[in-house]
Amino acid sequence: MSMKKSIALAVICVLAVSVLLAGCGGQQNTETSTGGEKQPVIGVAIYKFDDTFMTSVRDNIAKAAEGKAKVDIVDSQNSQPIQNDKIDLFITKKVDALIVNPVDRTAAGTIIDKAKEANIPVVFINREPLPEDMQKWDKVYYVGARAEESGRLQGEIMAEYWKSHPEADKNKDGKMQYVMLMGEPGHQDAELRTKYSIEAVKAAGIEVEELARDTAMWDRVKAQDKMAAFLTAHGDKIEAVFANNDDMALGAIEALKAAGYFKDGKYIPVVGVDATVPGVEALKEGTLLGTVLNDAKNQGRAALELAYVLAKGETPTKENTGYEITDGKYVWIPYVKITLDNIEDAQQ
Ligand code: GAL
Ligand code: CA
Repeated sequence: MSMKKSIALAVICVLAVSVLLAGCGGQQNTETSTGGEKQPVIGVAIYKFDDTFMTSVRDNIAKAAEGKAKVDIVDSQNSQPIQNDKIDLFITKKVDALIVNPVDRTAAGTIIDKAKEANIPVVFINREPLPEDMQKWDKVYYVGARAEESGRLQGEIMAEYWKSHPEADKNKDGKMQYVMLMGEPGHQDAELRTKYSIEAVKAAGIEVEELARDTAMWDRVKAQDKMAAFLTAHGDKIEAVFANNDDMALGAIEALKAAGYFKDGKYIPVVGVDATVPGVEALKEGTLLGTVLNDAKNQGRAALELAYVLAKGETPTKENTGYEITDGKYVWIPYVKITLDNIEDAQQ
């Protein structure tokens, strides 16, 4: 073979190989996009990113979506008008399903009307729409937890402590003098945790006296300020602290530490809800008496599974989502009581 010919042959070979490779590559690409299903797009609007528990829920939504759906998660910055704009944008983009954590749960009705018009199913999370709004359309679902249950479990933790620690009744009047730090007014979790925590203490046969209650909007810093004010007004008359969530319990603990608590034998029981990472740290440290697991992992996963099934035009069932659907519309994720004894149940 002449030199020229062999070079020509080599060139042809190289070309052939690259064409083959390209062909192969191209084929592979088409295979994944046709063989593998096209991933649905799910628009997710969170009431605000700056919230410890909801950050955990949103991380779990993203995790559950890996490899099956594209999630576009946006921050509504605690403003319903901003959230409405973001939802309008999702509708314009024709997303396949929506997951909405409303800023104001009474705004759900309007969101449902728009979604229905565009035929985009909606899964609400964390802030329960009013029952009449939930009935507006069959492609509307809610994933959450039973607020009264979390209140009851908190109350039980406190009652158990009270009964086994007679010294907790500092003024020996046989009553529990308590303060209550509340989440946002109108939020089902704030209203019902406040009510049912105290109901559970009373149901355990303990008399109570409320010294103060105020809203700290789920916020640690606000709760620290409110607790400092409670301490100024009532000082050591306070015998127990209830907080509607862990962030507020942690804020209260800061104020209590500043007032000399949690050292030299000075103690006061504080209970929260959520079992967030810093909440569990406080449990281990001995400052937080107890909390209630608000299961961000399963709430996030259930919301994604429902939205995914709906995005494909199917009806969610236990079989295709892995979660029990109650009354055709609701997924209820159980709360779990968390104290030092079962701290591992909080580790997600
Ligand atoms: C509650 C949670 C709070 C806060 C709130 C936001 O379920 O306990 O910490 O995240 O939701 O709506
Ligand atoms: Ca007392």
